[in-house]
Amino acid sequence: MKKIGILFGQENTFPQAFIDRVNQKAPAGISAEFVNIDQVEQHVAPDYAVIIDRISQDVPFYRAYLKNAALMGTAVINNPFWWSADEKFFNNALAVRLGVPVPKTLLLPSKERPSDTSERSFRNLSMMDWDAAFRHIGFPAYMKPHSGGGWKSVYKLDSPDDFFRAYAETGQLVMLFQEAVDFTDYFRCYCIGGTEVLIMPYEPRNEPHLRYATEMKTTGEAGEKLLATMKDYVLKLNAGLGYDFNTVEFAVRDGIPIAIDFGNPAPDADINSVGEKNFEWVVEAAANMAIARAQAQKPGQDNLTWGTFVHPHRAKATDTHFTVADAPAPKKRAAPKAAEKPAAAKTAVKPAAKPKAAAPKAAAKKPAAKKAE
Ligand SMILES: Nc1ncnc2c1ncn2[C@@H]1O[C@H](COP(=O)(O)OP(=O)(O)O)[C@@H](O)[C@H]1O
Ligand SMILES: [Mg+2]
Repeated sequence: MKKIGILFGQENTFPQAFIDRVNQKAPAGISAEFVNIDQVEQHVAPDYAVIIDRISQDVPFYRAYLKNAALMGTAVINNPFWWSADEKFFNNALAVRLGVPVPKTLLLPSKERPSDTSERSFRNLSMMDWDAAFRHIGFPAYMKPHSGGGWKSVYKLDSPDDFFRAYAETGQLVMLFQEAVDFTDYFRCYCIGGTEVLIMPYEPRNEPHLRYATEMKTTGEAGEKLLATMKDYVLKLNAGLGYDFNTVEFAVRDGIPIAIDFGNPAPDADINSVGEKNFEWVVEAAANMAIARAQAQKPGQDNLTWGTFVHPHRAKATDTHFTVADAPAPKKRAAPKAAEKPAAAKTAVKPAAKPKAAAPKAAAKKPAAKKAE
């Protein structure tokens, strides 16, 4: 008997529907249930051939449990090692490498020094040339955590003043400073098993319960082309990242889909937000993927999916993969001319401009429960 388990947090609709669907359609010898954990001992295999992980981003104990499970042969979805490593800045860089358009993005040192560090810990860090950063990215812009989700600490900024006010609130978070994409269409796309893609029109400017209640604005041939391009990009990104269950968001500007947020290994799958049709699709696709993975699972072996970036030799002929030799020459940044360099601030120590009293514009309200949207 091979068991499929689902590990989950506060969500209420997807886990039970997933279990029911697997149990309805799985061949004899495969069944599904909620994961049950009691004593966790090193190098002891849990009772599951497959675990769908929907919550370890919030529960470090579960993450450690899943890595041990993976070593013992459980096909953990998504790969807990990769999930521990990835973050938005690397993902964006990988997208550039894979030929998928992303907004111009810079990585910022945290406003406050990490605990237990001092000024001496930052002797490798040059003064930040804020004006050069603002010229490069422009306004409006977004600032958001390089590793985050659920729209937490995401700011839309219209000016350097907005920037410094928001930056002052970010504490020890490492932030991205990113060009805002002024979009005509926006989409969230499920990608299951690296092959199944559902493209959902999404309006992030609506209230949360109405974000999926929208339609694609691009029509006709341009619409068909846009859908095909997005599907291609979704497959490329997921092959590169090695996720089995993920969502990719695109903002469409001048007909070009620009990937905004594409490392969401526990994407929202609640019937109350995604709606009945999308929910049915994701339950069915996830159940099929889990059954296939249980059938393929070999006890004691590595049954994880690895991205072609970390495991180029595992790439299938159809995957987009690359070797170091294929990589385009990295862009070199021109050294700023001395005369151009404004009075700079030491990041991680003090900002250049004093934040004013007004609150920055947070792009979105913080939802009650964290979802890796
Ligand atoms: N560069 C950008 N251009 C336009 N909109 C953006 C950009 N970055 C973020 N957003 C908006 O902010 C929302 C939250 O940002 P996102 O990167 O998805 O963070 P999270 O991982 O917290 O969901 C997005 O759904 C989108 O509506
Ligand atoms: Mg998002």
